[in-house]
Amino acid sequence: MNKKYYLYLLLILLLSSCKEEIPFELTLPNHFSAPLIPLDNKLRESRINLGKMLFFDPLLSKDSTVSCASCHIPRYAFSDTVALSRGVNGELGKRNSPSLLNIAYAPKLFRDGGVNTLEHQVISPIENPSEMNFELKAVANRLAQNKNYQRMSQKAYQRDFSTYVLVRALAAFERTLISGNSRYDLFFYKKERNAITEAEKRGMALFFDKKTQCSTCHSGVFFTNFNYENNGLYTKYEDIGRAGITMRQEDKALFKVPSLRNVWLTAPYMHDGSLPNLESVIAHYNTGGKAHPSKSELVRPLNLSNSEQSDLVAFLKTLTEIKLTNSK
Ligand code: HEC
Ligand code: HEC
Repeated sequence: MNKKYYLYLLLILLLSSCKEEIPFELTLPNHFSAPLIPLDNKLRESRINLGKMLFFDPLLSKDSTVSCASCHIPRYAFSDTVALSRGVNGELGKRNSPSLLNIAYAPKLFRDGGVNTLEHQVISPIENPSEMNFELKAVANRLAQNKNYQRMSQKAYQRDFSTYVLVRALAAFERTLISGNSRYDLFFYKKERNAITEAEKRGMALFFDKKTQCSTCHSGVFFTNFNYENNGLYTKYEDIGRAGITMRQEDKALFKVPSLRNVWLTAPYMHDGSLPNLESVIAHYNTGGKAHPSKSELVRPLNLSNSEQSDLVAFLKTLTEIKLTNSK
C-alpha cells in the first residue's frame, strides 16, 4: 500500500473524530421566540447532560453538602421555599432564591442585574461564602479527578474537565429550563376557552387593567419588562439593589421586576422573601406600598374589594406550568 492511501485513511479518521454532534433543538412553545445562545456554547445534548449532572452535584461546594439544586429546587420552579437560603455551614444568604425557569431569556442576572451571562453567573454561587464557599478552580480540579466527568467533558467540549467546561455546561443546562405551558397559555395562546375559570378570568382582566397597572411592569410573555423598579416594600431598605451595581443614587432600592410565570411555586416573595404568600403580595399592592424616593408612581392605593383581591390571586395561580421537564 502506498503513502497516498495512508494519508487518505488518516484524513477520514481525522474528519470522523471531529464530527460535530447534531445541534440540540430546544422545545419551545409557539409563542416563545428562540433565546440567544452564545456561539461558543451552542446547545448539544452532551453539554446539557453534563450541566444537569453538575447542577445536582454537591461536590461543587467546599464541604460537598450544597448543590445548585439545594436552593433552586426543581419542583418549586427551581427556586427555594425559604425567605433566605442557607449555604455551606448553614450560612444565611442575603436575598431570596429566584426561579430559574426561562432564565435563558433574562437580559441580565440577579435581582440587581449585576451579571450579564449565565456562564459568568456560575462563579458567583461557587465562590459566595454563604452559598458554596469554594473556588471555581478548586471545583474544576476536584471534578477533573472523576473519570465520568472527564469522559463527559471530552464528549461535550472535546477537552479535559476545566473551569471552561464547568461554566459552559451549567449554562447550557440552564438554557433548557423552559416553561410556557400553563393554563393561562392554554387559554390565552391556544384559545382553549375553558382552560381557566370565571374567577380567574376576572382576575386576568384586573391584572391587565389600568386600574391595577400590574401589566405595565409585569408585561409580555414572561410577565416582566426586565426593568428595575421599586414597589414600595419599605421606607428604608437594607439592600440598596440596583444602586450596588450602577453606584447611582436614583437606582437605590430598585430591583429587577421578576417574571410571574410559576409564581405560585416560588413563595416566599420579593428580593428578601419577606412576603409569605400571594395573598400578602396583593394586600401589599392594594395599600399602595410605603413611601420611598425611588417608589414607582404606578404603585399606589388600588381600593380593591376582597373578592377582586382573591380573583387576582386566582389568576396568578393560572401561570403555573402543567408539566415541568428536566426536573429529575
Ligand atoms: C445557597 C443557595 C444557592 C445556591 C447553592 C445557588 N444559588 Fe443561585 N441564587 C441564589 C440566590 C439567593 C439568588 C439571587 C441572588 C441575587 O439576586 O443577588 C440566586 C440567583 C441565581 C441566578 C440568577 C437568577 C435571576 O433571576 O437573575 C442563577 C442563574 C443562579 N442562581 C444559578 C445557580 C447555579 C448554576 C448554581 C450552582 C452552581 C446556584 N445558583 C447555586 C441562591 C443559591
Ligand atoms: C412599578 C412596577 C411594578 C408594578 C406596577 C407591579 N409590580 Fe409586582 N413587582 C415589581 C418588582 C420590582 C418586584 C420585585 C420587588 C423586590 O424584589 O423586592 C415585584 C414583585 C412582584 C411579585 C413577587 C414575585 C416574586 O417572585 O417574588 C408578585 C407576585 C407581583 N409583583 C405581582 C404584582 C401584581 C399582581 C401587580 C398589580 C397589582 C404588580 N405586581 C404591580 C414591580 C411592579
